[in-house]
Amino acid sequence: MSGIALKNVCKMYDGAHYAVKDFNLEIQDKEFVIFVGPSGCGKSTTLRMIAGLEEISDGELWIDGELCNYYEPGERGLSMVFQNYALYPNMTVYGNLAYALKIRKIPKKEIDEKVHKVAKTLEIEHLLDRRPAALSGGQKQRVAIGSAIIRKPKAFLMDEPLSNLDAKLRAQMRIELAKLHKELETTVVYVTHDQTEAMTLGSRIVVMKDGVVQQADTPQNVYNSPSNLFVAGFIGSPSMNFLEAWVSVEDGRTVLYPGGSELGKKVYLDGERGELVRQKENGKKVILGIRPEDIYEYEEAVEKGFAQNCQGLEETVVTREMLGAEVILYYESQERTHAVRLSPENQTQTGEKITLYFDTEKIHVFDMETEENLFYREDVQA
Ligand SMILES: Nc1ncnc2c1ncn2[C@@H]1O[C@H](COP(=O)(O)OP(=O)(O)OP(=O)(O)O)[C@@H](O)[C@H]1O
Ligand SMILES: [Mg+2]
Repeated sequence: MSGIALKNVCKMYDGAHYAVKDFNLEIQDKEFVIFVGPSGCGKSTTLRMIAGLEEISDGELWIDGELCNYYEPGERGLSMVFQNYALYPNMTVYGNLAYALKIRKIPKKEIDEKVHKVAKTLEIEHLLDRRPAALSGGQKQRVAIGSAIIRKPKAFLMDEPLSNLDAKLRAQMRIELAKLHKELETTVVYVTHDQTEAMTLGSRIVVMKDGVVQQADTPQNVYNSPSNLFVAGFIGSPSMNFLEAWVSVEDGRTVLYPGGSELGKKVYLDGERGELVRQKENGKKVILGIRPEDIYEYEEAVEKGFAQNCQGLEETVVTREMLGAEVILYYESQERTHAVRLSPENQTQTGEKITLYFDTEKIHVFDMETEENLFYREDVQA
């Protein structure tokens, strides 16, 4: 059982500036938890506090049911893998893998067995005699992970371990990390900037901003039901599109006017969602959010049955990105660039006009002041 719990954990620098504020999270045994957020939001600081490399200013850190605030890093039973994987340059791969066991005075034969087992798992057996300088980035990364695994830690803490690798190698290592996590059945806490890593590796994603947790949930819930405007804009690539819209009620239906009623463009919100928006925001301005994949051209909108819920917005394509499996068209609206993800057969070119329809079931509505997602309900998430 290797659960990690953070209770109101804070990190303050210089007695004034909070790098991390009231961080609350219960990490279950064997969970793969990802910290994401913009640069400087406190991801590394939080991870380093768990590792014991950074003092906790306030709050409690529990590992395996023990209060660990004042435990030395070595007493916590955790293994850390950094972005700049620290390998000993003068030792061979074998020496690097064996090091942690040697200093624990484990018998040579046992070390030898363990090194070979780990090397086999990571497919680096043929590299055991080489020194780090003679390895590729991905190979070094594997050795670093190997030397973390071999200690059989209660949990792995990883800070952007793949960020020095090129895109292809990253993708490959990502898949291997996922496999490894399954095999080892160990708790992992993992920091990344990378959307794809966050979405694919994590059993849970913790989105941070300015030292504060914005949402901690499964990748799917964070994507489909972001708690607020920040999370909605941060998770997903291209980002969710945002439009200011006015809320009104017409013939008993809730209607949003992107850009104001004078433009005459309408988006209807029916059912419970419409009811909620009408109760809270009637007559007010809100932020309408729609993901690039939830926007369609007329024919598909008719096919999917929502063309009548939404008037088409006529836009001019400013950029066209053909990605093979899909085409992304960019247009400008309300002084922002918006994206729509369409099938690669779509032939609309830069400079041409296109009429777009929102899947009204997929629209998010954010309060202008609190920036909270009106449709987010924490109780449904758990
Ligand atoms: N030793 C320090 N003294 C003062 N401030 C610090 C110190 N270390 C970090 N900070 C500040 O704490 C905040 C959080 O830093 P942290 O390294 O945790 O961010 P991060 O989310 O890991 O960012 P990145 O994605 O760039 O690695 C930042 O504002 C940073 O400037
Ligand atoms: Mg960092």
